[in-house]
Amino acid sequence: MILITQDLMASDEGVARAAAILRAGGLVAMPTETVYGLAGDARNGTAVAQIFAAKARPTFNPLIAHVTGLEMAETLAVFDDRARAVAAAFWPGALTLVLPLRSDAGLSPLVTAGLSTVAIRCPAHPVAQALLRAFGGPLAAPSANPSGRVSPTRADHVRAGLTGRIDAVLDGGPCTVGVESTILGLDGAPTLLRPGGVPLEALEAMLGPICMGGDAHKPNAPGQLASHYAPEAGVRLAVTAPQADEVWVGFGPGCKGAALSLSPGGDLIEAAAALFQTLRDADALAGPGGRIAFAPVPESGLGRAINDRLRRAAAPRN
Ligand code: TXA
Ligand code: MG
Repeated sequence: MILITQDLMASDEGVARAAAILRAGGLVAMPTETVYGLAGDARNGTAVAQIFAAKARPTFNPLIAHVTGLEMAETLAVFDDRARAVAAAFWPGALTLVLPLRSDAGLSPLVTAGLSTVAIRCPAHPVAQALLRAFGGPLAAPSANPSGRVSPTRADHVRAGLTGRIDAVLDGGPCTVGVESTILGLDGAPTLLRPGGVPLEALEAMLGPICMGGDAHKPNAPGQLASHYAPEAGVRLAVTAPQADEVWVGFGPGCKGAALSLSPGGDLIEAAAALFQTLRDADALAGPGGRIAFAPVPESGLGRAINDRLRRAAAPRN
């Protein structure tokens, strides 16, 4: 089915219009501080099924339920003292918690893919918060891109990928964090299920050592599929001496002659915010059948999330 995709401004009127579309079971791309999310009513199975259809996403992947805060989150999942303390420290923000699902949560089973746990996030973006409050319930929202492609950090990225497949795009400007949320499993020992916008070091400072989860052969997070975030061009990593036909993307002051840079000054926060736009720019510069070479990025702080996304962008395509 082809839909007319409305462009909504992040005004009171635009947010009210978006909430009305969601209440009617429609889909709205909403800005969050990490990436744009494709939101639908998490309690409405038809709306959630349409999210999978619009993204052409493999249905075994569960979705994140977005909430206004801890109060709404506690209607969906069982929080112990540890989970409450982590939520108090990192919400609103770029952290998703996987917790035991409450039996009376009322979520569509498609959101949890039938699991006994649920992934919950309270976004900090003021427009996401305004939309969640106006809607008044949990919103299922994966990243607002066709499955397997580069995640959207601007409203025009969403339009390029999903126009005609969703009801509206709510434009809240560029995303400030630029990589998806960190996913922390707290249904047992703390486990990192996906590196993201909250650095592992910040979580370990509070919780102590965290187990590493996630396995490309048994994905419990689609970002965990080996090939993901794929541009059209081929991608090579940790390149300090690019070949003549490669578009070289630098990081830090040492990359003289690079066509683009994630951060000329070597700032990981700036690099994360620029990552997906830069992948798109490099793809356009490389042209059909072209190649992109990324300079090394340190494996610390947000560098862990950046390198995770770059490794998946460089992985053999299926
Ligand atoms: O920053 C973000 O997290 C963005 C914005 C829109 O909030 N959302 C996002 O959603 O990245 P998505 O669907 O692309 O990734 C959510 C991840 C998936 O990889 C999914 O497998 C994982 O969360 N997930 C959801 N429920 C889970 C569960 N019960 N156990 C383990 N992983 C789960
Ligand atoms: Mg995604």
